[in-house]
Order: sequence, then C-alpha cells, then structure tokens
Amino acid sequence: MLRALKSRLLPVILSLCLLSLLSGCTRAASPNTTTAARVITVGFSQVGAESDWRNANTQSMTEALSEENGYRLILSDAQNKQERQITAIRNFIQMGVDYIVLAPTNETGWDTVLTEAHAAGIPVIVVDRMIEVADDTLYTCWVGSDFRKEGRTAVRFMDGLSENSLRIVHLQGNLGSSAQIGRTAALDEGLAEHPDWQLVYRGTGDFTQAKGQEIVNDLLDEQLDFNVIYSENDNMAFGAIAALKAHGMIPGRDVTIISFDAGRRALELALAGEISFDMECNPLHGPRVDKIIRQLEEGIQPPKLTFVSETSFDATITREVLEQRPY
Ligand code: AHR
Repeated sequence: MLRALKSRLLPVILSLCLLSLLSGCTRAASPNTTTAARVITVGFSQVGAESDWRNANTQSMTEALSEENGYRLILSDAQNKQERQITAIRNFIQMGVDYIVLAPTNETGWDTVLTEAHAAGIPVIVVDRMIEVADDTLYTCWVGSDFRKEGRTAVRFMDGLSENSLRIVHLQGNLGSSAQIGRTAALDEGLAEHPDWQLVYRGTGDFTQAKGQEIVNDLLDEQLDFNVIYSENDNMAFGAIAALKAHGMIPGRDVTIISFDAGRRALELALAGEISFDMECNPLHGPRVDKIIRQLEEGIQPPKLTFVSETSFDATITREVLEQRPY
C-alpha cells in the first residue's frame, strides 16, 4: 500500500521540483531582461557648416547618434574656430558626458584640453581630420580619410592630361587642417616631379564657395593665364566655375578642374564635363562612430586609426553611378 502511494506521488514531487527550479531561473533572469539600456550622452564638437561635405557629415552623425539608437547627442558648431571647439570640449567635461567626439578644425593645439578630458576619464573619438598631440593616449581613436593619398590620386590624373604645360591655380582649404595639409603636400610632390608644371597662384579659399569664387574672379580680372584649377574641395570648385562662366569661359574646356569630396552636386558637374576629376572624401562617419562607441561599451578597444576607403570620378561617370551616390 505504502509502496503504491510512493510510486504515484514520486512523479508529482519531481514535477514540482522541476517547476520550482524553472521559476527560480526565471526570477534570476528577470532583472537583466527588464533593465533598460542606458542612454549614452555624446558631446560632438563639429567644425562648422562651411561645405556640402560638412553638412552631409553632420547629418550622418545626428542620424546615427539619435535618441532611437539610445543616444543623447549634444552638437556644438564651432563656426570654423578652434577656440570655440576648446570651449565646447570644456563644457562637455563640465556636463560629464560619456563620450566626446571631435571633428577638429586643425591638427595642432589640442594637448591642453584633451589632457583635461583625459583627467576627467572621458574617451575622445576624433573623426575626419587628424590631430597631432605629444601623447596619443589623449584620444581613444580616430576615423577619417587619408588626405595625402586623395591628393596623390588627383595628381596622378593630372599626370595624364594632354596639355604639355600645366599652369595651375591652387585653391587651398583651411590652412592647418589635415585635409589641406595632405592635399597640398601631394600637389607639392607633383610639382617637384614635373618641372614643366607651373604653380601660378596658391591661396586659401577656406573650403567655401564664396571664397573660391572671389579668388578666381580676381585672378581673371587680373588676366592671369592658367589652364588647371586644383581645388581642395567641391564648394570652392563651384565658386571657381561660377567665376569662369561670369568671364565667358567654359569650365572643362578652357580650364581643367580637379576637385575633392565628390558630393552629388559636384558629380552632376562631372557628368556635364565641367569638373574633370573629383576625388571622393567620404563624410558618412556617423555609423562608424556608433560602432566605435558600441565596442567601447563592451570593453573592446577599436583600432587606433581607421582610414576609410574612397574612390574617384572622371569623365567616364554615368547617370546610374551618380544616382547611387548616398550624398
Ligand atoms: O575635412 C574634410 C574637408 O572639410 C572636406 O573636403 C571639405 O569639404 C570640408 O570642409
């Protein structure tokens, strides 16, 4: 009788034990599954809004570091002034942000403020242009373009131009920015290798359309003789094209235009034959910075330097290629 009772009760007792074990597991797991992911606060010090490239970059950053993606983004526009970036970084430190993202105006002058960020324990991610600091542990990592390589690719194109003597107008970007330093260094290498190339004008157009137009207008008024414009970005090239047209010249026929960035607006001009060569500078750093932050959150150290891969465009560009460009 006792034996029969035992054999009937045993499965019931075992099931109860299993149930209690399972509910124990569920209880233990619940704090993790119900805890909301923390909102990550990012202070982003942006250079300004000097070019189409910059606007595409700001858009990429705000889209990737959005509320829906778990961020609180504090965007600060430095209007092209390094002092404003330094002030913005100090404000971010005061606020106690989780990360600082810096798109620097220039390469130098960051040691003091980044030492302050370091002392506050805030990781600094540098995007786009590079920085030069005595101690590179002051920033966590950098992602951006190889500006000298971009310049060298453009110079290789100039090598193949049919004109036997190039008389070059060189529109530089903001002096001291690595975009300017790299692209200028590449042209200097080209000039050193080609004694028949003449640099007839060099000056900064600050990466803006207005300055590019003003410079080329003045050169044409002075009747300077040139047949190539090496413009360190698209916006200065737009200004140069407007000035050439205002003087009755045909861009692409009378003057060969070399440009950098390869935004859609510029590629329309490449398709129309007005820009002869455009070297891509990729502005879509938002998803890259998001990935870096996710890695850091998981305790993974991202690569110190990441160069993005870029392409170039010339007269062979087609409408189909243009339509596929995301910016
Ligand atoms: O640093 C990237 C450069 O900055 C882009 O080529 C230019 O358009 C921008 O202003």
